[in-house]
Amino acid sequence: MSKRKFFVTTALPYANASFHVGHIMEYTQADIWVRYQRMRGHEVHFVCADDAHGAPIMLKAEAEGITPQELVARIAAERPAYLNGFHIGFDNWHSTDSPENTELSQDIYRKLRDAGFIDRRTIEQFFDPVKQMFLPDRYIKGECPKCGAQDQYGDNCEACGAVYAPTELKNPYSALSGATPVMRESEHFFFRLSDPRCVEFLRGWTQNGRLQPQIANKTKEWLEGGTGDDQGLADWDISRDAPYFGIPIPDAPGKYFYVWLDAPVGYLASLKNHLTKTGADMNVFLADPAMEQIHFIGKDIVYFHCLFWPAMLHFAGTPYRVPNNIFVHGFLTVSGEKMSKSRGTGISPLRYLEIGMNPEWLRYYLAAKLNANVEDVDFTPDDFMARVNSDLVGKYVNIASRCAGFITKRFDGKLVQEFDADGQQLLADLAAARETVGRFFDEREYSKAIREIMALADRTNEYVNANAPWELAKLADREADLHRVCSVALNAFARLTRMLAPVMPATARKVADLLNHDFGQWDDIALLERIKPYQHLMTRVDPKLLDALFEPAAPESAPAPQAAAAATPEAEAAHISIDDFGKVDLRIAKIVSAEHVEGAAKLLRLQLDIGEEKPRQVFAGIKSAYDPTTLVGRLTVMVANLAPRKMKFGMSEGMVLAASDESGAAPGLFILSPDSGAAPGMRVK
Ligand code: 2FM
Ligand code: ZN
Repeated sequence: MSKRKFFVTTALPYANASFHVGHIMEYTQADIWVRYQRMRGHEVHFVCADDAHGAPIMLKAEAEGITPQELVARIAAERPAYLNGFHIGFDNWHSTDSPENTELSQDIYRKLRDAGFIDRRTIEQFFDPVKQMFLPDRYIKGECPKCGAQDQYGDNCEACGAVYAPTELKNPYSALSGATPVMRESEHFFFRLSDPRCVEFLRGWTQNGRLQPQIANKTKEWLEGGTGDDQGLADWDISRDAPYFGIPIPDAPGKYFYVWLDAPVGYLASLKNHLTKTGADMNVFLADPAMEQIHFIGKDIVYFHCLFWPAMLHFAGTPYRVPNNIFVHGFLTVSGEKMSKSRGTGISPLRYLEIGMNPEWLRYYLAAKLNANVEDVDFTPDDFMARVNSDLVGKYVNIASRCAGFITKRFDGKLVQEFDADGQQLLADLAAARETVGRFFDEREYSKAIREIMALADRTNEYVNANAPWELAKLADREADLHRVCSVALNAFARLTRMLAPVMPATARKVADLLNHDFGQWDDIALLERIKPYQHLMTRVDPKLLDALFEPAAPESAPAPQAAAAATPEAEAAHISIDDFGKVDLRIAKIVSAEHVEGAAKLLRLQLDIGEEKPRQVFAGIKSAYDPTTLVGRLTVMVANLAPRKMKFGMSEGMVLAASDESGAAPGLFILSPDSGAAPGMRVK
């Protein structure tokens, strides 16, 4: 196969928040792909950057009393701990708030303008009469004009994926002040996406078979428009008025590029920054027809990457070129729960690392679940533990841990190179499998690659079991057989390691050292000659780690039942209005079941009937005070409108109230009971 040349990116994360586990999934997906391509000998330039501009960053910095640059720098400083921690090997990390990005964004804009793709129009825009500023899209909320979903942002709908102007929202309100926004005039700049040249180009680019079928279909819907008021592509508003943290639009004082204009240009800015460091020229790099430009993204930003971005690049012309492909993945859910963009999920990647969880467990688990479709990937703690412990430790590591010791102790680390027929067949099959497995990696069908690799690990274990080296070791006349069997197994282990190397680079390095072998290439590997003494390669997942991962702050307590009693003196003294109190929906609840939770020291799992169709599940930290059997049938009081909370054991959909004496004079917890006559579902006021 001839040598290929890639420019690969992942979506640029907003620089106003730490990474969540969804970012780690995307970076892992791309990193595995990049490592695989490098093992094949291809040249890859893998870059990312902080997406620094935009109103949210400006407003957050303002609220903190710092400059946007300071905020961005603080977040940027956190990045390496995550990236190094999860072995994400970007060649460069840059920022959209950089000289390269300013220059490139302005250059692309000028070229588009000169080619007749930019319009200036006076538009009416929402203005917040309380905050006295034009409202950024994200700060106008209302109902989606396409699907009617409530509380959607002003630029796109998280429910149906539609992209629209904030003025199209139904019943808009300012998320900054709550005020109903008023209309004001302002001159805006538009990219003429509706230009027939643009529509024609995008039809070709999106429908020529490169995109994933789901994505091609979606873009087709957007391009062709549907029925009624859905008329296909609208021109794209690319300007924002001062005050705005962004790149100034040339020859237009007080006007800035909308963040989504300069964000993807940040891919090129990071590439340019990276190439410059190596003395290379980006324009020369982009001019190479053999170069393939690939963007890994999530399904929520397809519109920007499959319509705006290729159109911008195409019509800006040389030196820019359109992406070769956009690889779209689904969301990461945790125990089935969708993660919020701002809050992430119950899994904090940094905490994962801090409590000593092996980053390659997660990389392996994600690989075992990822494919080339736009499907969501679900992380469930039990599944995670089972896969890592049974596949990775029980099947893969097990091969080396059962055989390496004999080679070291009995044969001075040396392996034989002549094998029995079964052994030869096994090794030949493992060598042959690398084409299939390689194709799966290339096609981002990682789950298929992992399934294939684990089937081969099973076969290797069958070979070891059938030959039982531990039995051979007891028989003086079977030395040669013992030597042969362990040599076959370790050579098989080497081949498995080579195929797992894109997923588990650190383990592959350890194994390379142990086996005196290099797993840098995908090619078939030579037979092993000598190994070093076996060092343990990987521990099993201890369920206690998963407990710690999901319950960082208050160990095991759901919204703490003592929450009411734990208020600080200031909080007790502060008055709240009757309206504030009215926000708390307190209900009489009947405890229909109560049970211990395996692995939880303080929690009971309660099912509470509050007159709804089915009982609510609540985890309450009252195990120390109550025998669950005595609770069943009792009435108590619960907070029914507390946001559901994802816990390791499942969702907690409320909170029961209990009293406790903070001074410790009267230890214990006392749940509340209503007077007789109260019935499940009654409101407590
Ligand atoms: O959705 C996001 O998180 C954006 N910051 C992604 C930008 S990708 C690219 F265009 F920069
Ligand atoms: Zn919608």
